[in-house]
Amino acid sequence: MADIVTIGVVGAGLMGNGIAHVAAQAGYRVILHDAYPDALKRAQETIAKNMGREVKRERLSEADRDAALGRIQAADDVSAVGEAELVIEAVTENLDLKLKLYEQIVPALKSGAIFASNTSSISITRLGAAAPDPARFIGVHFFNPVPVMKLVELIRGMATSDETYETLKNVVTQFGKIPIDAKDSPGFIVNRILCPMLNEAAFAVLEGLGTIESIDAGMKLGAAHPMGPLALSDYVGLDTLLAVMQVLHRELGEDKYRPCPLLVKLVEAGWLGVKSGRGFYDYSQQPPTPTL
Ligand code: 3HC
Repeated sequence: MADIVTIGVVGAGLMGNGIAHVAAQAGYRVILHDAYPDALKRAQETIAKNMGREVKRERLSEADRDAALGRIQAADDVSAVGEAELVIEAVTENLDLKLKLYEQIVPALKSGAIFASNTSSISITRLGAAAPDPARFIGVHFFNPVPVMKLVELIRGMATSDETYETLKNVVTQFGKIPIDAKDSPGFIVNRILCPMLNEAAFAVLEGLGTIESIDAGMKLGAAHPMGPLALSDYVGLDTLLAVMQVLHRELGEDKYRPCPLLVKLVEAGWLGVKSGRGFYDYSQQPPTPTL
């Protein structure tokens, strides 16, 4: 097993800041990279706020919070991840964008470093082929909100070595997560099952099966889900959900994975959910109100 002291996280969005949070809290030194200084600033504020919740609930001392925050170094230059033994990429769910970014990350990687992707649906074998050594490439899929959700899917590509797999299994266990193995197949396990359900909820809106609020209430009260599917879609990001559905549809080739046209329209409108302030709900209102 490789010895991991420093973890590079590329992408300071919803998932990247969560991964940096749990890594720093587990005692790792973290280099959080994003090309956008604003995104880095927002991520640091979010991490501080989320650690603050744990201090308030007396699960984390102020001193431990300060030490964890002190272990996170923000870097707007990608070469900074060259100090890390493990680099986790957590950027937008878009193959071309990821591959373009890998052209910048790969020359920065330290010799022998493990490279991992938090992709929600894209082939690990395909991404691994763009790594300097596919044996040291692996899928490590976290769930939102990362500090709360216990699961991590570990996905081995065609060439991923046992050492890489064992190293990641150990690291995510140190994060306090429970890893499961998932096959390198579109959407892996959770998104293969969850995203078609969320997509179906968008069809339910489109077909007028009920109002946004009644569809969400139906699944919360009738199926004991912690959030309704439309609120959860907004939470995950409608662009991310659409990207996963497009991968499932394209790669698995079945009509049942067809992205709902309403979901496509919302994304075209820039209504991406919580992160853009509007999706199925309008988040400028308290509590959020349905937009359709
Ligand atoms: N960061 C850190 N902690 C958070 C948090 C965040 N962003 N959001 C909530 N929490 C903590 C709170 O501190 C609280 O902790 P406690 O109960 O131990 O004291 C706990 O989570 C519950 O929070 P709240 O009481 O404020 O709110 P809820 O009870 O409504 O829970 C929720 C919020 C945890 C988000 C819950 O609604 C939930 O589990 N929703 C479903 C989330 C889900 O399904 N995620 C998976 C999405 S799929 C995905 O990510 C894959 C991707 O590839 C698409």
